[in-house]
Amino acid sequence: MIEFKKVSKTFDGKKNVINKLNFKINKGELVVLIGESGCGKTTTMRMINLLIKPTKGEILIDGKNILKMNKIQLRRNIGYVIQKVGLLPHMTIGENIELLPKIKKWKKEKRVERAKELLELVELDPEEYYDRYPNELSGGQQQRIGIARALAADPDIILMDEPFSALDPITREKLQDEIIRIQDELHKTIIFVTHDMDEAIKIADRIAVMNNGEIVQYDTPEEILKNPINDFVEFFIGKERLWRQPELVLAKDIMRKKVYKINAEGKMARAVEKLKESEATMLIVVDKIKDKPQKGLGLITPKLLKRIEFNKKTLNYNTKVIKDYMRKDFVTVDEKTNMVQVLNYMSTRNFRSIPVTNSKNEIVGIITPNSILNIMSKISPDCIIEEEIISQNKEEVNGKA
Ligand SMILES: Nc1ncnc2c1ncn2[C@@H]1O[C@H](COP(=O)(O)OP(=O)(O)O)[C@@H](O)[C@H]1O
Ligand SMILES: [Mg+2]
Repeated sequence: MIEFKKVSKTFDGKKNVINKLNFKINKGELVVLIGESGCGKTTTMRMINLLIKPTKGEILIDGKNILKMNKIQLRRNIGYVIQKVGLLPHMTIGENIELLPKIKKWKKEKRVERAKELLELVELDPEEYYDRYPNELSGGQQQRIGIARALAADPDIILMDEPFSALDPITREKLQDEIIRIQDELHKTIIFVTHDMDEAIKIADRIAVMNNGEIVQYDTPEEILKNPINDFVEFFIGKERLWRQPELVLAKDIMRKKVYKINAEGKMARAVEKLKESEATMLIVVDKIKDKPQKGLGLITPKLLKRIEFNKKTLNYNTKVIKDYMRKDFVTVDEKTNMVQVLNYMSTRNFRSIPVTNSKNEIVGIITPNSILNIMSKISPDCIIEEEIISQNKEEVNGKA
């Protein structure tokens, strides 16, 4: 574990570039530092391997103050990958990867074996690349070597400072996938700096959003997207971003929490009245109305009413009991279902609304065209909400359509 305790850094003439920074990075975690240029990301990272010395505060690795450690030893246990890969041009790829193992005095055989193993890990054929020189490789391939080199001496921690910033988008995406895969395989502790929110969301276990030498929010990508802590974070991630990540949006995020319930023993006349006055898309029939989530026994929907009326021309709702007429075979979605699945489901089955249940099968909300539009307008205020769709929907609920 890496722990920052009230760490500050002042450069000559530049005060508190890092300002009383407190945060922890757990073992095996991939943490992304993100923020605008100059906010202190590189400085934070370079203090971990003591390329920069903190002015105040402590940095602990597994409980030990790094200022009390041998700098060289410390750095050997921390891989470092930067944007300018920095491969030595007169050395072969193999020699570049084996640099640190060689300094650590590993035997030749072991070094070569390790280098070839790492080439395979970063998906470059050892037969083809081991004896090549850096300038024969593309930028993306060189960065793969950079990663292999950082892993060579099997460090516990890897620092990556905008490693993919100079690469084209396609190569970049591929290398992001590689990092995710390598992390799954090796469980290193990785601190990764970027200024690209899409990159952060894709690879991070947790994201630290930095501003002026401080961490403004430190949380999972999902939490940061859904609950930005203040205007800065919200502005920084961009309102529409959650929308680009629809698999992170769950049924519970798009449902309306207020559900209209009605007692199973009540009369149908009451159901008809309640549907109209509430403008609900459906009523949830329950045993006895309670002010908390409860299991639904059935549904009363405008469509159901139309069907009943169609079948029985003369019908006295005042005498009919709800439980005898409600729709019992209704479908629900679990609150953790993601939005893509929910929308697919609704469109393939042609549902306009769908109740949402928790793990106890109790109804906690309802997804309706309006609830979806509402959430869209919150995430993307610029998106045009067709008034027409909304009023149309209301009319339908009221049985006028
Ligand atoms: N060696 C230095 N001397 C003086 N100022 C520095 C030095 N290194 C960084 N800074 C300043 O500290 C701030 C943070 O820099 P840096 O950590 O590199 O930001 P980032 O990586 O987030 O872009 C910047 O304003 C930068 O100009
Ligand atoms: Mg930087």
